[in-house]
Amino acid sequence: MRSATSLLTLLSLTVGVLGGAVYDLDTSYVGTDFLDTWSFEAITDPTGGRVNYVDQATALADNLTYASGDTLIMRCDDTTVLTADGPGRNSVRIKSNAQYTTHVVVWFFYRIEGVNDVSPNTISLHVGSTCSIPSSNSDQTGTISATNCDVNTDGNSGCGVQNPTSNSYGPDFNSAGGGWYAMERTTSYINVWFWTRDDSSVPSDVSSAASSVDTSNWGTPVANFPNTDCDIGSVFGANNIIFDLTLCGDWAGVSSIYSDAGCPDTCVDYVNENPSAFSEAYWDVAGVYVYT
Ligand SMILES: *[C@@H]1O[C@H](CO)[C@@H](O)[C@H](O)[C@H]1NC(C)=O
Repeated sequence: MRSATSLLTLLSLTVGVLGGAVYDLDTSYVGTDFLDTWSFEAITDPTGGRVNYVDQATALADNLTYASGDTLIMRCDDTTVLTADGPGRNSVRIKSNAQYTTHVVVWFFYRIEGVNDVSPNTISLHVGSTCSIPSSNSDQTGTISATNCDVNTDGNSGCGVQNPTSNSYGPDFNSAGGGWYAMERTTSYINVWFWTRDDSSVPSDVSSAASSVDTSNWGTPVANFPNTDCDIGSVFGANNIIFDLTLCGDWAGVSSIYSDAGCPDTCVDYVNENPSAFSEAYWDVAGVYVYT
């Protein structure tokens, strides 16, 4: 997850791993806001996926991106059989023009991605310098899956925490009607929360997209990345928020992950030959709210 704006005055409030603070709404991104204030990146997929990211004009013309009201749909081409030596499947990658440091971001999704329908979601950090997370941490509900965050020494797999609930991603997430992810980034820690759509414990400031949020009321996060083994305040620059839909590549295309999920063939051959398999693989974003 990636994402928001800085207020130095917040830093003195965010002491302690689960300190929390009050943040005010900086920007709401809903529907056509994504067309106006985000960039469509027609670049080579940094994760080596079997995709061909297209520009905004192409995405709109081919209806790979559809924005209306409180809906943003992003999908990949689901009609073209690809040739083995040609470009990958047309898809989209969008990036917020704004960058953020200390901030809270709330994502409200109707549907969400992952790999090969495998839940739960994994929340990970990928850092270009020495950085790790403690091997045990009682300030989170998730399960640690990897502790080394340094992309130079871990093959860019990142350090990760798995969401304890299967409805955090995939068919179970979608059948629950989606849900909210939220991240709080400070110089002392990064916390990530998840609430499924019908979770009665979702804080009202989250579910109502309130004009301010108080993270100290949000309970124990799914993932807590403290600065004990990683200088959170210095190893991250300002971040953009990015959504993409990639196929195969460094994560889903790794042969063990792909075949473990019970998938046929090789990932690239399957993507090339089965366009209709991707009709249901799309983002349905209700809104992204950034607080600073
Ligand atoms: C484009 O996609 C949207 C969302 O799935 C759909 O409602 C709409 O009918 C599509 N438009 C066309 C021209 O296919």
